[in-house]
Amino acid sequence: MRPRRCRSHCGVLGGSEMTTPIDTAGPAKGQEDALLRAAERIARADALLITAGAGMGVDSGLPDFRGTEGFWRAYPALARAGVRFEEIASPSNFSLHPKIAWGFYGHRLNLYRKTSPHGGFAVLKAWAERMAAGAFVLTSNVDGQFQKAGFDKARVCEIHGSIHHLQCSAPCGPDTWSARHFRPEIDEEHCRLTSPLPRCRYCGEVARPNILMFSDADWSAVRTEAQEAALDGWLEGAGKVAIVECGAGTQIPSVRRFGEHLARERHLSLVRINLREPHIDADGIGIALGAADALAQIDSILSAQDSNPSNPAKATP
Ligand SMILES: NC(=O)c1ccc[n+]([C@@H]2O[C@H](COP(=O)([O-])OP(=O)(O)OC[C@H]3O[C@@H](n4cnc5c(N)ncnc54)[C@H](O)[C@@H]3O)[C@@H](O)[C@H]2O)c1
Ligand SMILES: [Zn+2]
Repeated sequence: MRPRRCRSHCGVLGGSEMTTPIDTAGPAKGQEDALLRAAERIARADALLITAGAGMGVDSGLPDFRGTEGFWRAYPALARAGVRFEEIASPSNFSLHPKIAWGFYGHRLNLYRKTSPHGGFAVLKAWAERMAAGAFVLTSNVDGQFQKAGFDKARVCEIHGSIHHLQCSAPCGPDTWSARHFRPEIDEEHCRLTSPLPRCRYCGEVARPNILMFSDADWSAVRTEAQEAALDGWLEGAGKVAIVECGAGTQIPSVRRFGEHLARERHLSLVRINLREPHIDADGIGIALGAADALAQIDSILSAQDSNPSNPAKATP
């Protein structure tokens, strides 16, 4: 059974974030061992559940929003004005300062559209293609990078919504629609939309991204709820699932808690790839590397084992 998710950026479940620094693979030997064990779990799995946060996009050149510093580095105009992520990522801006709100989200939309997913996405996709039940993705990222990397859009669950979809800011109804025809032009110096605002296709009010923002009672969860139902269905028949988590942070821990809960409840393997926050409980595997690097290293181990007849990763558990 899938854990219920919170709709207010406060994490998925009750209970505290696991913080015991076990198996963080800090020293080289520990790291090597963690990579080997991760490869073993993946080789034995029938299905791959990829869970991802903003750190997954870092090796593609995208910013994560780790703390105000990181966010302000990515948006110097907001740094100059002293605006924090929590303030700009607020639905009220679409009625109060829509050109600024779209200056921020329009810049991100353009950025995600022109970004190419790094090699780690292709590695995950190749693993999934060799597994009986394939892959499902659960991500708090709104950037559409998994779909861009060729993952089946019917098997992606975007728990915080997607920037590639719009909804009414009023809102006059729960409908969402594609942002495909919206091509924002941005004055980056002032973080301001210079082209016309997108409008609700039903009532003409300003349209906003279908993203769960802070204190956001107006977010339409319809699209995400359908994705969650698809994930539930897939999990039912997926068999032995390996969970590979990439770049999910502790500040908004929804993705981490989802994987931890599912792993505990269904006795699944959880591999956590995270550059700065790899801590995980004793049953999990924490890898303190960047996502592209870690996935490439695990893939090399799997390839070497594939060409070795005494392949330990292929042994029956
Ligand atoms: N691309 C996006 O869609 C995007 C980007 C920024 C923020 N957000 C939103 O903001 C919130 C941010 O939370 P979050 O936890 O996803 O991000 P976060 O910025 O809070 O944390 C990022 C995590 O990734 C790790 N990390 C950094 N570089 C990495 C790398 N190269 N490889 C692997 N791990 C790396 C960090 O140690 C950290 O734990 C989410 O709710 C999300 O919806 C989305
Ligand atoms: Zn409307």
